Parts: sequence; structure tokens; C-alpha cells
Amino acid sequence: MANINLSKLLGEQLPVDIINFMKKAGEAAEKRQQRLYVVGGVVRDLLLGRCNTDLDLVVEGDAIKLAHAIAASKKAKATVHTRFGTANLKWANRSVDFITARAETYARPGALPTVRPGAISDDLARRDFTVNAMAIELNPRHYGEVIDPFGGRQDLDKKLIRILHKKSFSDDATRIWRAIRYEQRLDFKIEPETLRLLKWNIKMLKAVSGDRIRHELELVLKEETPEKQLARAGGLGVLAALHPALKADDWLAETFAAVREKNLPEPAQSRLYLALLCYRLNEAELEQLMKYLRLPKTTAQVLQDTLAIKDKTKELAAPGLAPSVVYRLLHVYNAAAYIANSIGADSETAAEHIELYLNVLRHVKPALSGKDLEKLGVTRGPRIKEVLQKLREARLDGKVASKEGEREIVRKHIKSL
Ligand code: CTP
Repeated sequence: MANINLSKLLGEQLPVDIINFMKKAGEAAEKRQQRLYVVGGVVRDLLLGRCNTDLDLVVEGDAIKLAHAIAASKKAKATVHTRFGTANLKWANRSVDFITARAETYARPGALPTVRPGAISDDLARRDFTVNAMAIELNPRHYGEVIDPFGGRQDLDKKLIRILHKKSFSDDATRIWRAIRYEQRLDFKIEPETLRLLKWNIKMLKAVSGDRIRHELELVLKEETPEKQLARAGGLGVLAALHPALKADDWLAETFAAVREKNLPEPAQSRLYLALLCYRLNEAELEQLMKYLRLPKTTAQVLQDTLAIKDKTKELAAPGLAPSVVYRLLHVYNAAAYIANSIGADSETAAEHIELYLNVLRHVKPALSGKDLEKLGVTRGPRIKEVLQKLREARLDGKVASKEGEREIVRKHIKSL
């Protein structure tokens, strides 16, 4: 394809503050005799007409020094990673990454790469897919010029996800998940030879740390409709590499759609997706998966609680349960675990009971306090808790609705002792 200049498209599609920032950054780089490029997702999405303002800037030369110089003039907060030659600038609601252009070599499959400074061409050559391996120059004399050494634009037109070289997936098997993610998000196809190599390298996923795989799964679960990515992963045998008992079928698609109807903020929505993905595992399978992915404690608790509640759905499926019985069965788990079960339970009655608990029963409390009970003559210690429990149950089952009614119950109780 002929070389093109995208300065007009940049101006049309990106917010004006981002454009001003990129121009200023280009001028700052020029002054320092460095060359500066915007790369990766922003370029891909610009050409696709999709909004993306997560700027990744690649500097031929020292990215940290350039970032510092720009931070000072913008009053932006700079975070620096000297080891990786990268810096991040944050101001208002914007975030920009500065990366020193580098060449990478992989000592062994799955290992983190060995890195040395390089030119933009080296930096693009180390990337995952042709559509992600394009750059736009920001220095004033070349502002807007596209660098596309691997035919990324052509693949965007053909809607193809294509790796740059044969060893791409064995170098970094997380790209298997990435390929699936982009293919399904953009409604593209993984190019046939790329697909062949992807399948061949599924075994290499074992060489990748659980932390990195967890990160990929988290990214999948942040997609707009993650059931698509998971179904594709299922079809290719990639999901089975995560855990052989995981399934991405119609049930999963339906429950994920139900999750979206709840309009939950992140990370609650992703957690709920994960809970439903794991819903049909047994306890031992869940343990294996959690150990492999080294899930953080809070997430692990949600998943364990989800299965604990699921264990009770048989009892909860009985119609006409007294509210106090529902309360006893469901007290007390992580809030997300209730929602997962209200969506995932195969009995409607069980789901209704869970929602009743979540929305109403768990908030029911006796009007009398422990102190009130002492004043009425209940002996201090475990007895107080017992009587409070009794009062709560009476309230739950509609046997009492006033403070005086509760006092009456307490008096009777003391008499009966
Ligand atoms: N990249 C790569 N191999 C990886 C991870 C990232 O080559 N395993 C490169 C790609 O060129 C990608 C860039 O690093 O474009 C930035 O990565 P990331 O932020 O994960 O992706 P984006 O392209 O920004 O895409 P999005 O955030 O929209 O998923």
C-alpha cells in the first residue's frame, strides 16, 4: 500500500486535547533530536473508526527523559520504570505511556524477552499482530505519516488477525488469547496460517505463568461480550488448557447476557462473569483453577461462596420456605455469590429465594438491642445472641412487627426458662 499521512484523520477522530498533546510531544522530541511515534491499538482503532485514547508512544531514544520534559511543561504526574525504559504520564482523566523503542529476543518459549534499545522498525517487529504493528510519526516534519512494515492496513481491510512471524505464539503464548480477543471483538478472522500455528502452540500455554494467563482472562472478561471470546477459545481447545472442565456454551451466553442487564460497575461485572464461568465446576476443579491462576483472595472467596450457595439450591428449590429458613440457609456469603446464583440456579424458586434474601431478608433486624435485652433480664453472654436470633426469626416470619411485640417475646422466653 502507498504511504499515507493520517494527520487529517487524527484531527477528525481524536479529542482536541489529545491532538494538542501529541503535537507538543512531537515538538519536544524534535528538540531533543528524538523521533516519536504513536503505536499499537490507537493506530489500529483510528483506521477502524473506533474511539481509543489510550496512547502508547514509542521514542527512538530515552523515553523516560522525554516523558519528564513533557511532564514538567504539562504539570502531569509521571511514573517511571527505569528497568523497562518506560514512563507513564497522567493528567486530568488522561493516561499516556512512553516506551523506549526496543528489539526483543526470547531466550526460551514463555520466558520474558531480553530487551535492547532499537529503532521503530525493531519495535514494530516485536509486536503480536500486523494490525497492532503500525505506527504514526509525531515529529513536526513527518507528523501523521504511517509506518506499516507488515501490511497492517491491508489486514484491517481484509479483517484478518495475522502474526508477524512463525515463532510469535511460541515466543509468547499469551498471544493465543490475544488473537481470540481481537478476532471476536472486531469481528475479524484469524488468518489460516496464523490459526494453524495458534492451534499447534496451544501446548505452549503451559509454559506461561498462571499470573500472565490470569491477566489474559481478566482482559477477556472486560470485553463487551466475553462469551464470544470464550466460545471461540472453547472451540479451539484453548479454554480446556485453562481447565478441561470449563464450558462456553449457550448456558454461559445466556447467563452472561443476564449479568449485563444488572449494569454493574467494574470489577463487579467481571467477577460475576468469572463466577458463572466457574459455576459448573466442582469444588476440587475450582481449587485447581484458583491455584493455577493464583486468584486474589477476594475473587477466590466469591467463587468459593458461589459454589457453597449452589450446594444449597436443592433445599432452596422447595416452594413456600419460611423466610427464617431461607435466611438460615443463606447467611452469610459474599454479595456477588448471591447474584451469581440468582442468575445461574436452574430452579426458579431457588433463584427467587436467593433474591428475597439479597434484597429483603438480609436487612431484617430486631428493634431491640443486646443492651435492651439485658435490661429486660436476659443474662449476659451467648444467651443474648440466641434471643436476638429468635427475635430476628420472628420478624422474618412476620410473627412480630413492633418493639413492644419483641419485648413480649422476650418476657415469655425468660418465663419459659
Ligand atoms: N503487544 C504484543 N504482545 C503482547 C502484548 C502486547 O505485541 N503479548 C503489543 C501490541 O502491539 C499492542 C501493544 O503491545 O498493540 C499494546 O498492548 P495492549 O495495551 O495490551 O493492547 P492494545 O493494542 O492497546 O489493544 P487493546 O487495549 O485495545 O486491547
